[in-house]
Amino acid sequence: MNKLKNNLSKYISIDDISIRIEGIAAQLSEIFYDDIPIFIGILNGSFIFLSDLIRKVNFECEIDFIKVASYDGIETTGKIILDKDINLDIKNKRVIIVEDIIDSGLTINYLYKHILSYNPKDISIVTLLSKKDNYNLNFDIDVIGFEITTEFVVGYGLDLNQRFRQLDCLYKLKP
Ligand code: IMP
Ligand code: MG
Repeated sequence: MNKLKNNLSKYISIDDISIRIEGIAAQLSEIFYDDIPIFIGILNGSFIFLSDLIRKVNFECEIDFIKVASYDGIETTGKIILDKDINLDIKNKRVIIVEDIIDSGLTINYLYKHILSYNPKDISIVTLLSKKDNYNLNFDIDVIGFEITTEFVVGYGLDLNQRFRQLDCLYKLKP
């Protein structure tokens, strides 16, 4: 594990992530206390964030996953491929999309429209990280964990070519 972190520098600690998740969970709990919304986690990156978040909310929920691919290394390929669609029926249901990070906005733009096409009652979007200087969307991102700079980050579910997802918190690549 130490060798694994050789070229990484710690960016956001597990304590800071936990505190922020408590805040996000409280915010969602005020909105959804009387509902049973469906969390839709965007695979693979959101799996750790989603699992921590759902254990902090105080309302019932259902959980599904969707999977797309757009990245190759640290560059987006600009093409979105739907690898795995949702399985639950979300028609007239409240949906909470959970993303690890919004960078160019391409992925969330594609998925928002895709999920909207199933006619849910409403859609909320929660992302752990946001590089807001990189995207321009014509819908709102309802909850942002942390606004970050445009550097590439790994850990806590986020990868570089599928590696580093298991790291306990968020790291930057050393230049
Ligand atoms: P977008 O389509 O450009 O917004 O990119 C969104 C997806 O790219 C996210 O779901 C991540 O999987 C990946 N991504 C973007 N930036 C980073 C990063 O800094 N680290 C790891 N993955 C990233
Ligand atoms: Mg991803």
